[in-house]
Amino acid sequence: TGNRTFTMIKPDAVENGYIGAILDKITAAGFKIVAMKFTQLSTRDAEIFYAIHKERPFFGELVEFMTRGPIVAAILEKDNAVDDFRALIGATNPEEAAEGTIRKLYAASIGENAVHGSDSDENAAIEGAFHFSGREIY
Ligand code: CMP
Repeated sequence: TGNRTFTMIKPDAVENGYIGAILDKITAAGFKIVAMKFTQLSTRDAEIFYAIHKERPFFGELVEFMTRGPIVAAILEKDNAVDDFRALIGATNPEEAAEGTIRKLYAASIGENAVHGSDSDENAAIEGAFHFSGREIY
């Protein structure tokens, strides 16, 4: 698979003061940060970013949550980035996440689950391009 993935440190983790701890786990696991910004999603941004979940019952809650405060968005580089990053963050539901994973350590619930990780190389490219122009990737 490809060598890049896209991540967001979500509003809950920012509010709880976990930006530094999460970035430490990411870099310690061998990911190189090639783009990064501290930003806040507008409602429109969140609705576009999560368009795939539009028909889900939790869509409104998801958009509310993701726009309620700032996030850290980043593009990460590593061999096998998408799969290795998903292993590092753990299952969507922190109660099911393996010991030592970012969600097990820092997430409270399936809705407020601390971090995003792209689920495919194709989505990694789409999501990275949503947040970063070519000139913001180093
Ligand atoms: P993520 O996989 O990063 O992107 C989709 C998000 O939808 C997911 O993280 C959760 O934050 C959220 N989500 C998934 N399932 C539920 C659920 N059952 N209830 C609330 N939020 C959910």
